[in-house]
Amino acid sequence: MSLKKILLASVFALGATGAQAQTKEIEMVHWWTSGGEAAALNVLKDNLQKQGFVWKDNPIAGGGGTQAMTVLRARVTAGNIPTAVQMLGFDIQDWAEQGVLGDLTPVATKEGWDKVVPEALQKFSKYEGKWISAPVNMHSTNWIWANKAVLDKIGAKQPATWDELIAVLDKAKAAGVTPLAHGGQAWQDATIFDSVLLTTGGPDFYKKTMIDLDQSALASDTMKTVFERMAKLRTYVDPNFSGRDWNLASAMVIKGDAAMQIMGDWAKGEFINAGKKPEQDFVCFRFPGTQGNVTFNSDQFVMFKVSKERQEAQNALAAATMDPAFQSAFNVVKGSVPARTDVPDTAFDACGKKAIADAKEAAQKGTLMGSMAHGHANRAAVKNAMYDVITRHFNGQLSTEQAPKELAAAVKSAS
Ligand code: GAL
Repeated sequence: MSLKKILLASVFALGATGAQAQTKEIEMVHWWTSGGEAAALNVLKDNLQKQGFVWKDNPIAGGGGTQAMTVLRARVTAGNIPTAVQMLGFDIQDWAEQGVLGDLTPVATKEGWDKVVPEALQKFSKYEGKWISAPVNMHSTNWIWANKAVLDKIGAKQPATWDELIAVLDKAKAAGVTPLAHGGQAWQDATIFDSVLLTTGGPDFYKKTMIDLDQSALASDTMKTVFERMAKLRTYVDPNFSGRDWNLASAMVIKGDAAMQIMGDWAKGEFINAGKKPEQDFVCFRFPGTQGNVTFNSDQFVMFKVSKERQEAQNALAAATMDPAFQSAFNVVKGSVPARTDVPDTAFDACGKKAIADAKEAAQKGTLMGSMAHGHANRAAVKNAMYDVITRHFNGQLSTEQAPKELAAAVKSAS
């Protein structure tokens, strides 16, 4: 039976009583399990609880959402549909293609989403002209988060170029501090790769390789330099990096055990949640050489087709997600920027204000580009093929010489 049929059967099978019981319940599948992430989600939970909804939390640990997507597929196949699911980029479009997502267009039209949601996000939130998800934020991946006291101690200033970055990492190493806090998981390796590729080849090369999947660019000498630089960064991580969760890597920087972390701006949520202040305790800056360009990802809440009774909760969640005051409150805590252009930056700290300004600048220049690591540059099959090559290389199982060719070949067979 197709997924669509399974889903419709389960919607139909849900009798009046079951539907009644679930009308006021919002079950959310997500991967926001770190301290900062949970604090942000609480803002939404509280809003909806005040409206009389019962929040049923369904967190599935695993940064980047790989595990959550596996669980979701099993649940949908079993006809066990949550009210909403956190989802990224092309995954949303993949599910939409299968005809199993609900239609949020009535809420979107009533609330004027078309006019306020950035074009770059609408590309993922809409399918065949209909709204299929509510974007809660826009994150970006080309950031570095550094401990200010450590930088001061080693006499380093904020690096503006690749060479300056290497010089700072060397200084940290010489001072006996772990230069780079990193967790060896495929999605984290890929998050670093987003930035290294962007600084090495510039936005045109990023688009050619990650979005257009151009075979000769993928196998080029520039790509070889990208892998050389990945191998160089590998020399700055501590011996225990393998399998470490990203928020534990953030904690190393927060505590001063490491100088910096290359990570999306959800890392800021961890610093804030630990009571740290930007510019005093930590500094945020764009990965050297990528200033003015942004690799983004947007968390969106996707609603599957459910019985009419359960749609009330979905619509309430969609409306609450897009509320401008909520978008400000949530994103201040989460580290991301609002998914609407009409939310003022007044409540945001220095890093948040910079993120908002950078996204605007990049959108105007045409260099607001989807993050490969977070499913916004290409489809899951291609992304996973890229992950595999990047991670094998990062772990020394693939030579820098061979990596570009393998990358091109892996993309070819996945697309
Ligand atoms: C990203 C997601 C962020 C953050 C991060 C780490 O994919 O967009 O909101 O949760 O994973 O879990």
